[in-house]
Amino acid sequence: MSEYVIAIDQGTTSTRSIIFDRQGSIVATGQLEHEQIFPQAGWVEHDPAEIWNNTREVIGQALSKAGLTRHQIVSIGITNQRETTVVWDKTTGQAVYNAIVWQDTRTQPIVDRLAANGGVERFKKTVGLPLATYFAGTKIAWILENVPGARAKAEAGDLLFGTTDSWVLWNLTGGTDGGVHVTDVTNASRTLFMNLETLAWDEDIVAEFGVPMSMLPAIKSSSEVYGHAHDTSLLREVPIAGILGDQQAATFGQAAFDAGEAKNTYGTGNFLIFNTGEEIVHSENGLLTTLGYQLGDAKPHYALEGSIAVTGSLVQWLRDNIGLISSAPEIEQLANTVEDNGGAYFVPAFSGLFAPYWRPDARGALVGLTRFVNKGHIARAALESTAYQTTEVLDAVNADSGVPLAELKVDGGMTANDTLMQFQADMLGVPVVRPVVAETTALGAAYAAGLAVGFWKNLGELRNNWQEDRRWEPNLESATRDRLYRNWKKAVQKTLDWVD
Ligand code: G3P
Repeated sequence: MSEYVIAIDQGTTSTRSIIFDRQGSIVATGQLEHEQIFPQAGWVEHDPAEIWNNTREVIGQALSKAGLTRHQIVSIGITNQRETTVVWDKTTGQAVYNAIVWQDTRTQPIVDRLAANGGVERFKKTVGLPLATYFAGTKIAWILENVPGARAKAEAGDLLFGTTDSWVLWNLTGGTDGGVHVTDVTNASRTLFMNLETLAWDEDIVAEFGVPMSMLPAIKSSSEVYGHAHDTSLLREVPIAGILGDQQAATFGQAAFDAGEAKNTYGTGNFLIFNTGEEIVHSENGLLTTLGYQLGDAKPHYALEGSIAVTGSLVQWLRDNIGLISSAPEIEQLANTVEDNGGAYFVPAFSGLFAPYWRPDARGALVGLTRFVNKGHIARAALESTAYQTTEVLDAVNADSGVPLAELKVDGGMTANDTLMQFQADMLGVPVVRPVVAETTALGAAYAAGLAVGFWKNLGELRNNWQEDRRWEPNLESATRDRLYRNWKKAVQKTLDWVD
């Protein structure tokens, strides 16, 4: 009887479940989108109950499409949108507030308050991150400070915090009936609370945020058996044996296991992760220091990360808020109706600017407009913004590492966009390479879960599964490239100068 691994990918816009075979090929997929809730400007929420219901449903979808039962699934991996914060009552299993999503900027006053004593980099040496609304710690503090009754319940030990990996795991292992409250090192490294060297919560920092330690999950490696699916699950008794934040999972799924290897994922945002091996590298150029992965008791791998808040979600915004296109793939057709950007530059600083600027006060701008500019130019400028932002991040990676990256492995939805990928290679001046299995996020979680139960024996076996699908070579005169990039930087400056 053939055996398989299932990955649950709890992402920003949807939850998916993908079944993989031993070659790392996709056997079947289930997927459901969930509502994006925008109660106020800058606020982004998800309903945790909807996310859990969708998780159960997509597991069923994938199993039935594949014609499999739980007896053929050897383990379960979980990967997730990172930082998105759920706080729930362990006695009722209900969240006390909607999940506060990673893009949400409401916690800026909390950031300012904490930064007043020592600046935004005061915890950076310990946790690898600047103080910013992006990370989970400020979101937990907001819930405790703003949801009536939450602080008293938290202090009584009744509330639990988790990123969505922990929320899914706790529910999958039984919820109020013995749910396991655990996260992995990669997710823990996105809270502002985990010491990068000891891989333990830093109790002094947690106390500064006013968060009771009893709320925090136990920190485990990315690949070990955390628990088993509860009797109420279609996967009952199957071990859950891998957890990785989605960007780290994609890095693992790209087989970028060693120092010096990197990948860039094109999702709602873009996230470039550069593996620094067993060394903790502190960036001088606006990158984050984060956990790459840890397999059981082995030493952890660290990484530098360039996070970009808005890339694919700019295309969604042009579709949903502006009506420029009626489906996301149309952006490419529209961009291809023109030769170039017509002088227009679009800086989508909707959640401020993340790497390498870390300026929460920046706001989006469309500049360089003349009567000549049409819809096609705006579509083109929107696509180009993804490539320019990635170029800025790669510049920072090259400056920090001192060794320019020779090529960039890419994955994610927007890598289907040929125009963007070609322009990306043109801007970077190095080849851009996409693997056959572009679902590297789910694949990485499956790999972690399969390694823990011996389904895959070692990293070499996984590396052999990686196959190139497509390569884009740079093909743009350097004078043109330099002019475009120079103009982009001027456009960014406009968004940094913006004061509300
Ligand atoms: O840090 C946020 C990131 O993990 C979200 O990724 O793919 O769900 O947009 P994605």
